[in-house]
Amino acid sequence: MKTYKLGVIAGDGTGPEVVNEAIKVLKCAEKKYNFKAELVNFDLGGARYLKTGETCPETVINELKGLDAIILGAIGHPEVKPGILEQGILLKIRFALDQYINLRPVKLYENVETPLKNKGPKEIDYVVVRENTEGLYAGTGGFLKKGTPDEVAIQDSVNTYKGVSRCLKFAFEYARKRNKDKKLTLCAKTNVLTYSSDLWNRTFRNMGAKDYPDIKLDYAHVDATVMWMVKNPEWFDVIVTDNIFGDIITDLGAITQGGMGVAAGGNINPEGVSMFEPIGGSAPKYTGQNVINPIASIMSIQMMLDYLGEVEAAKKIESAVMEVIKLMPSQAAGKMGMGTKEVGDKIAERI
Ligand code: IPM
Ligand code: MN
Repeated sequence: MKTYKLGVIAGDGTGPEVVNEAIKVLKCAEKKYNFKAELVNFDLGGARYLKTGETCPETVINELKGLDAIILGAIGHPEVKPGILEQGILLKIRFALDQYINLRPVKLYENVETPLKNKGPKEIDYVVVRENTEGLYAGTGGFLKKGTPDEVAIQDSVNTYKGVSRCLKFAFEYARKRNKDKKLTLCAKTNVLTYSSDLWNRTFRNMGAKDYPDIKLDYAHVDATVMWMVKNPEWFDVIVTDNIFGDIITDLGAITQGGMGVAAGGNINPEGVSMFEPIGGSAPKYTGQNVINPIASIMSIQMMLDYLGEVEAAKKIESAVMEVIKLMPSQAAGKMGMGTKEVGDKIAERI
């Protein structure tokens, strides 16, 4: 029997509630599909920071490096200044574990409401591959003459050949394996970002011609990409893009698939330890009320199992989610027609 050592960072706000439901589902899948999930809890988040001043110490990073995967709930606390926990925990783990891909499927399920007119599950089904360790998130830059009228603030976008090519390689391979339209769209801004987008575009063209003759190469500027995501989402199969563009376009993608209650993603290091999370935040105002939607967290576990090779279990969780979603009048917190725990129960029962 395969055993997986999984780290659990339930985190802040509604994080622990949604992770509970996801683990409930995981525990059913474990019995049914004959694998073992050994869970290790990590106390990280706003509460720990407020108590000890620690975000994510090196000792924790070292422990995380010894796991098979990480399950994350949510990070973000109303009493902590914005940026501290996001950078000190979420980005710190992404960077320290070199999770260089952020994989974000945009898939609308039957009976889920989308704000896009005349679009349904057939039209909204693509995947965004976001670079996850470089670009504007690299943290280089600085201030000159801070606090004076002559202040200068510089935030660099760092794009390395290594970072760009490994991300593109993942996206090409993903488009091939997904085997839908076998089309990869590069989302960049070559008309203005004549250095960074040029590196992306050149590498994209070269790799495509050399190693991926079976994949159709497509390009869209980022501003056009968001327009097409609304107007013609069916044009997309796999989109690959840099860190900040990926951050922005995936919130749009998430809302077209039913919102933060259902959208999940994976921070992936194909050669190391990956971390799976619901895309939404900690939603503090809903904490402890049994009203938050756990499906995004459950789908993040589904992605994790698929990634770990437990393909049958992953398929079953997805089909159970699809059935339960049909029973819910809405995916929004407090409007699901049932509580957080009931959604988890209903999905677990079907497994
Ligand atoms: C996300 C989030 C994070 C990001 C924040 C919280 C740092 O918005 O996962 O998309 O920008 O990557
Ligand atoms: Mn984001």
